Amino acid sequence: MIPASLISKKRDGIDLGKNEIESFFSGYLSGMVTDAQMSAMLMAIYFNGMNEDETFALVEVMLHSGTILDFSKSKRFVADKHSTGGIGDKVSIILAPIMAAAGIKIPMIAGRGLGFTGGTIDKLECIPGFDTSPDLALFNKWVDKSGYSIISQSNEICPADKRIYDLRSKTGTISSIPLICGSIMSKKIAEGISGLVLDIKIGNGTFMKSQDQAIELGSWMKKIGHAFNIKTDIVYTNMDQPLGNYAGLSCEILETIDCLKGSGPDDLMNVTLELGTKLILQSGLVSNRSSAIDLQADIIRSGKGLRTFESSVEIQGGKLDEFYYQTEPKHETFVYPTREGVINNMDTESIGWCLVELGCGIQSKDDTLDKTAGMEFLKKTGDKVNTNDPVYRIFCSNKTALETVSKSLSSTIIVSDKQSNNKPTIY
Ligand code: URA
Repeated sequence: MIPASLISKKRDGIDLGKNEIESFFSGYLSGMVTDAQMSAMLMAIYFNGMNEDETFALVEVMLHSGTILDFSKSKRFVADKHSTGGIGDKVSIILAPIMAAAGIKIPMIAGRGLGFTGGTIDKLECIPGFDTSPDLALFNKWVDKSGYSIISQSNEICPADKRIYDLRSKTGTISSIPLICGSIMSKKIAEGISGLVLDIKIGNGTFMKSQDQAIELGSWMKKIGHAFNIKTDIVYTNMDQPLGNYAGLSCEILETIDCLKGSGPDDLMNVTLELGTKLILQSGLVSNRSSAIDLQADIIRSGKGLRTFESSVEIQGGKLDEFYYQTEPKHETFVYPTREGVINNMDTESIGWCLVELGCGIQSKDDTLDKTAGMEFLKKTGDKVNTNDPVYRIFCSNKTALETVSKSLSSTIIVSDKQSNNKPTIY
């Protein structure tokens, strides 16, 4: 295989054969293909797309780059949820314990921050001691003990995704349908699950900006899921504004705990319960939507969801009592609108980049995360504001970052005399 000739082929819009995809992507893992060559290939795929055979070949090669888990002997339904990424999206951390408490096993492989979107793993690692990189034997043990476990991509499961995910984040090649399919579906198939619900976000704070793109992505993912015998449901949700009242690192764990105590914000809880309903119906635990919602509401009301979360954190080595003492940021400030009126639009991608700048994401190898960093959304789209009403409370432990971000943030909202569009949380 000559990497440059395959890159040129894809660059010129010529389809690659299954063997060519296999040799290029496995060549990357073995060191024959360099980071620069893989970046060029990712950009060629970004611009020219992939046909069905190429997309399936990509999923296969990523899947077989590591071990595939086997839960075929499990008495419980084994399933998972994955989101295409957004701002303030902590649904996985809330949903997994609720599903485990309902009796569904969730072996979840989640991601770190990607581009301007937040990462489940970065948020969970704010809990001191919380281990997201166990070996597979330990991961299986945790899933058995707690009913669920959330870990990061590893060298054992989908190592190809681990390395390519990082490169895509740095090369502007994230929002490509075949690359998203390869990344998400290989990880999910490798988990050995029988059910899957995908939260495909649509809007200015995610990679799929239009409904058409999102629907195309959804139909590809459904096709791939079914080809691998996984019951696959898709839920399309609004990412034209952040989800919930907080986005950042530790603050999203605190908001998760509020949700599991029954006091989560409506938008966040509606998305969580909708995704949970799909998984519960797939599992056959109940036979209709309202029973699935009641089951989840009972789990939250009784405290079973919170207890499952706390025991899973403990099993993964996390110390919640220490966490509560480490969430306090050194600095905070408020951002005000420049005029009175109604918030008509939030530039959610820019909010995401502001979060990265505050310390919630990494842009280069030398960056470190600031676990105390984040934002509180005191107002959202449709809310009335005046110039004395703060829209954002922003916080972190780096004063310079706070000052820079507070200046950029005021241009992320458009305030008008009346609200012109009121989009639902779930499409
Ligand atoms: N989440 C993933 O795991 N992969 C992507 O490509 C996008 C979101």
